[in-house]
Amino acid sequence: MYAIQLVEPSLSSFRRTSLPDPEPGPGDVLIRLRAAALNYIDVAVATGSFPGATLPMVPVADGAGEVVALGAGATNVARGDRVIPHFMPGWLDGPMRPERIAAMRGITLPGSLSEYVVVPARSVVRLPDHLDFAQGATLPIAATTAWNAVRSASVRPGSTVVILGTGGVSLFALQFAKASGATVILVSSSDAKLERGRALGADHLVNYRARPDWDTAVLALTNGRGADLVVETVGDATFERSLHAAAMGGTVFTVGFLSGAATSINLFSIIGKALRVVGNSTGSVADLAEAVRAIEANGIVPVVDRTFGIDEAAAAYATVAGGTHVGKVAIAH
Ligand SMILES: NC(=O)c1ccc[n+]([C@@H]2O[C@H](COP(=O)([O-])OP(=O)(O)OC[C@H]3O[C@@H](n4cnc5c(N)ncnc54)[C@H](OP(=O)(O)O)[C@@H]3O)[C@@H](O)[C@H]2O)c1
Repeated sequence: MYAIQLVEPSLSSFRRTSLPDPEPGPGDVLIRLRAAALNYIDVAVATGSFPGATLPMVPVADGAGEVVALGAGATNVARGDRVIPHFMPGWLDGPMRPERIAAMRGITLPGSLSEYVVVPARSVVRLPDHLDFAQGATLPIAATTAWNAVRSASVRPGSTVVILGTGGVSLFALQFAKASGATVILVSSSDAKLERGRALGADHLVNYRARPDWDTAVLALTNGRGADLVVETVGDATFERSLHAAAMGGTVFTVGFLSGAATSINLFSIIGKALRVVGNSTGSVADLAEAVRAIEANGIVPVVDRTFGIDEAAAAYATVAGGTHVGKVAIAH
């Protein structure tokens, strides 16, 4: 089969190669991959700042394709099904446990830049009919994480949700929050990106370049109350402001390290408002399946900014690393 490998820790060291076709073992499924979608973690893996990968390896955690063969005992899917293999195939359901998250596609397991992949059949979720392969490939990490964010704060009509930036996790969180009846405050670097967010239903737009004190803007927009949920996708650059923007008893759903992971905070901002600071590491196959059900029920269409070809991996990675995209960047093949 053809495959693209990352050969050195760099955003441009990709080589096209030929690898043996994988064979499905008992309980496995063989997928003909048709698309991959990038997450910031793929950039972190490629630059060596996220541990666990042994090079050379087939990169990109997320993908989508169709089932072409089944191993013995694999009965939950059929040949021809359009499916999404989950990022962490060992975490089927229940809470996070070390043994469930040890295997990660595109890090410790082969990723999505190859013609075929074998994964456990129980780790795949069917692709909704209204999505194409590139849209489906965007779901495992970003949609699962955003779904868990919105669920963690029991978002419902009347809730206020703050979304930071217009990247993959952020726009899924915006779409799930709107589908849950919440008021959404979107904070971004660019007025043009904010307008894309308005088209997805964002109620209030704050440009953090014009308003570096976006947290104060959130308090003003909520009559001083603050947000029930802040989806913290950025890291040290925004964490303290996210605590400030949250309402008493609110949730700061903490997933991002785009700007750096080390930060110093005044604990009274958490103690004084009884905040819930909730960490998260993507989620289980069951979480992905729930997110996909919500996507199907609400007719949600993932925002794919641009789709590259399989031989354009370096350009796709550069786009995500540059932060010019809105939503997701895909690679179709
Ligand atoms: N722990 C988990 O479960 C989990 C799961 C998925 C992702 N993540 C992490 O979450 C983060 C986001 O991932 P992603 O894949 O969605 O990233 P992405 O698609 O690359 O989105 C990045 C966007 O963040 C925004 N941003 C950057 N600096 C900002 C700032 N100072 N203030 C506000 N927004 C800022 C920018 O949007 P604007 O230009 O619009 O401001 C940028 O385009 C990454 O650190 C990723 O590793 C964690």
